[in-house]
Amino acid sequence: MSHLVLVGMMGVGKTTVGRIASNRLGHPLIDSDVVIEERTGRTVREIFETDGEPAFRALETEMLLEALASPEPSVIVAAGGVVLDPANRRALSAADARVVWLVAEPMTLAERVERGGHRPLLDGDPAATLQRMWDERQPLYREVADAVVSVDNRSPQEVVEAVLR
Ligand code: S3P
Repeated sequence: MSHLVLVGMMGVGKTTVGRIASNRLGHPLIDSDVVIEERTGRTVREIFETDGEPAFRALETEMLLEALASPEPSVIVAAGGVVLDPANRRALSAADARVVWLVAEPMTLAERVERGGHRPLLDGDPAATLQRMWDERQPLYREVADAVVSVDNRSPQEVVEAVLR
């Protein structure tokens, strides 16, 4: 059995879908942002504000590589920005893992994304930021994805069914 890795933009529902898929499969859930907060004892926002984005990206890479190296098949919720680093993309392609890209219209993301919390990059104008990120990241998600699942007009359960298929 290989890992199931969920990638996609902020607000697409990776954490919710990951939780349900982990229960369904009976595989442990490794959620990048949660692990980073547990390990460092700091919030994602604090890390961004105190150490800056590059420091956060380094932690994100560390968590991804560690999760992919886990001998136990797991459901891995990768943080949204994980595809920015070419080394992470190579690791995702090389790993014994099925990578599923969850996709939503940028406008859907802007409507449902929770502001504040662990998403300091969306503090300004979330719709514009999400559109810019989408333009930049779309080819990168496509590069690593084994499958693409749309979340538009689907309940989390329906998304999980599609992911597992
Ligand atoms: C980020 C996504 C966030 C979090 C951080 C940066 C990004 O995680 O890691 O705010 O650059 O896409 P989610 O994808 O879980 O929202």
